[in-house]
Formats: sequence, structure tokens, C-alpha cells
Amino acid sequence: MRVGVLISGRGSNLQALIDAAKDPDYPAELVLVISNVPDVQGLDRAEEAGIPTCTIDHKNFPSREAFEAALNDALDGASVELLCNAGFMRLLTESFVSRWLNRHLNIHPSLLPAFKGLDTHARVLDAGARISGCTVHFVRAAMDDGPIVAQAAVPVLPDDTEEDLAARVLAAEHRLYPHALRLVASGQVSVDGERSAGMPQGPGDPALF
Ligand code: GAR
Repeated sequence: MRVGVLISGRGSNLQALIDAAKDPDYPAELVLVISNVPDVQGLDRAEEAGIPTCTIDHKNFPSREAFEAALNDALDGASVELLCNAGFMRLLTESFVSRWLNRHLNIHPSLLPAFKGLDTHARVLDAGARISGCTVHFVRAAMDDGPIVAQAAVPVLPDDTEEDLAARVLAAEHRLYPHALRLVASGQVSVDGERSAGMPQGPGDPALF
């Protein structure tokens, strides 16, 4: 399956996908990485891996629609079949989301539907939650919303700072995203009505991390 990745920054989740896709049996090939922010580390990671990149800076477009038309042109040009947001920090319009419906994944650093949005780890700590984690889900127009593909849970420890928790969740993200993309790209998980279906259970399931 030909996969495009949308990023806005560091690209550590992109790196996890790049590393997973090196396995010849992995069912997804990364064919294009697009950043909406120029000169970010994620672009360097893609270039080092020999993956074509482009920067489509939303600031250069008069409207969200024009920005998204440029995204679609680039994605179509690379014959992308499945799209992954990996730290892509732009809201997308209903029209873009519809075009990629059920072929578009996002990763978020919380156990959705809890703690959508920004400053996730600070809000988890403020709430006194004892467990946090990360979620890979199919994208819908509402922020951090949509049918869940897979989740991984991590403990919140008593003396955790925001940085401690962020690092523990990020390590889980790097295991979860390659696993979730494998499930979707191999057809083991799809959307049934508005729920994702077909998640295999058992050892190695990230729910057990
Ligand atoms: C990750 O923690 C990802 O879950 C989060 O941004 C970070 C990107 O890191 N995404 C969101 O918060 C989306 N709502 P990375 O660039 O190193 O992959």
C-alpha cells in the first residue's frame, strides 16, 4: 500500500514508520512526506531514508481550501493510497477529510476520547489521571476524533513532570503507530459503520503494553 505522511516538526513518529517499512514484509511503503512547516527535522529524516519530500507551507495559500488542493495534487502525483498524520498540527476541512475517509490515520498522545487537543500531558497531570497513553485513529473533521484503530497505555507515576510523561507516551507511540499502520494497510482493520473493526487480540497487541 502506498502511504503518504503529513508532518509539521520533529518527525519521530515518521522515523518509527520509516524503520518499520524497511522490513520487506511490511505492508506499507512510504512514498511521500509532506511538511506544512519548512526546514523541520522530519524532512531530514525522510531525505536520509530516500523518501521524496515536499514542503507545502499553509502560510503561502489564501485559504484552507487552496492549501488542501495543493496537498491533494502532491498526494495524487505520488499515487498515495493511504495517508498518515504524524505530528501534523493543522486542522483539515470536511472536504479534505471526506476525500480521504477511512484511508487517513492520525496519532494523538492520549487515550482518546480523553484529552483531545494541545497540552495533553499537562492536562493529564492536572487531572490526576493514573494512566495515559496514545491512540491511532481514522481521521474525522473534528479534532482528534474518529474510529480507533489501536491504543497503548502507560502509567502516570507520582513524581512525573510533563516531560517525563511525554517521553513515556512517545516511546509507546513509536511502537503503536507501525503496528496500527500494519493493521490498516494489510486490511486487518477497517471501518464498519463508524467503528473500527477486526482488531486482532492476543500477545503483542499494543493494548497489552
Ligand atoms: C506526537 O506526540 C503526536 O502524538 C502529537 O505530536 C507529536 C509529534 O511528534 N500529535 C498530536 O498532538 C496531534 N493532535 P513527532 O513529530 O516527533 O512525531
